Amino acid sequence: MKINEFKLERYFAKHEFTARHLLSSSDCDGFAVQDILSQANKEELELWSNLKLGYTESEGSTLLREAIGKHYQKLSKENILVASPGELHFMAMNVLLNAGDHVITMLPAYQSLYEVVRAIGCEISYWKPDPTNWHFNPDDLGKLVQKNTKLIIINFPHNPTGSYLTRSELNKVVDIARKNNIPVYSDEMYHKLITGNMEELPPLSNIYEKGISLWGTSKSFGMAGLRTGWIVAQDKKLMQELLSFKDYLSICNSAPGEILSIIAINHYEKFINHNIKKIKRNIHLFSEFVKKHPDLFQFIPPKAGSTAFVKLKIASPALEFSNKLVEQTGIMTVPAEMFGYDEKYIRIGFGRENFSEILHELNKYLNNNLR
Ligand SMILES: Cc1ncc(COP(=O)(O)O)c(C=O)c1O
Repeated sequence: MKINEFKLERYFAKHEFTARHLLSSSDCDGFAVQDILSQANKEELELWSNLKLGYTESEGSTLLREAIGKHYQKLSKENILVASPGELHFMAMNVLLNAGDHVITMLPAYQSLYEVVRAIGCEISYWKPDPTNWHFNPDDLGKLVQKNTKLIIINFPHNPTGSYLTRSELNKVVDIARKNNIPVYSDEMYHKLITGNMEELPPLSNIYEKGISLWGTSKSFGMAGLRTGWIVAQDKKLMQELLSFKDYLSICNSAPGEILSIIAINHYEKFINHNIKKIKRNIHLFSEFVKKHPDLFQFIPPKAGSTAFVKLKIASPALEFSNKLVEQTGIMTVPAEMFGYDEKYIRIGFGRENFSEILHELNKYLNNNLR
């Protein structure tokens, strides 16, 4: 398989560990191992101290899948497979699709949600939002269905726009899929990061027999370094096929990562609530900041997740704006083209503690350079 460069990841590779300030990251600050262990009960601490660094169960340890299973209904541990999130996505697309199949996915989007299916040779239709409010209308999705549609890919809370669906809109998506007998792959990496006043959606695998849910510790938990993700689906045959594919990739998960993930998931509220509080505070700070620069930015506050897609009212392309900004100030932002969207937007990430300091630096730069 030939696959195009993952532009977003290459841009992060270039700047993430050298830029002084990260204004576009979708993950929250990483918690320390000590933060996780400080929540552990006696049995969990024993797991950690007795940990042996051999191979682990390829589907994910029983204890880990039991911890994950508490977040899903109607399912047993055979319905759960643990691997790194990007790997799971790659496996799922390869198991579910063949060249020539028609797939509906979203745009703008996290690149792997359209690039992997493109590399497989699928025909793609894009479900696009209304740019005045980033609303994805399920009626538009319905119009994209074809006779050979083999998969619908959705992502809510949405990266990068922060868009979310109401429960009745999600039900509409399921109705469209069920009527046409199409599986839905639901990337729920930002699950539970509800920062507006909308109702939290259930995992798709709870409500649709052909729903496939992806979640992990990277975003909602602030633990991207664990590399723990999981797919949950009611279809046990699919789960077996995914597991067989994994034997050609990572084979099994990191043993320390599994134990820390068990503890984190068992005590999820502590970590997720901390992140929600920080994101809400930073959304407020950014709203105030934009009021000072109404001629430069148009900001639609996110409904959920940790990011927003902000319009630049400037003459130069977004890539040029981001490149100059990182070169001159050390502030990293990600331009829209990294999400397959060729307009003047940048992603803003709200998960960092030093957000107000970064805005202070950005304010200085804008006043000196764009006024
Ligand atoms: C929507 C979405 N899905 C999947 C991933 C992959 O997560 P990870 O980087 O932890 O593999 C990301 C990461 O940014 C994402 O935004």
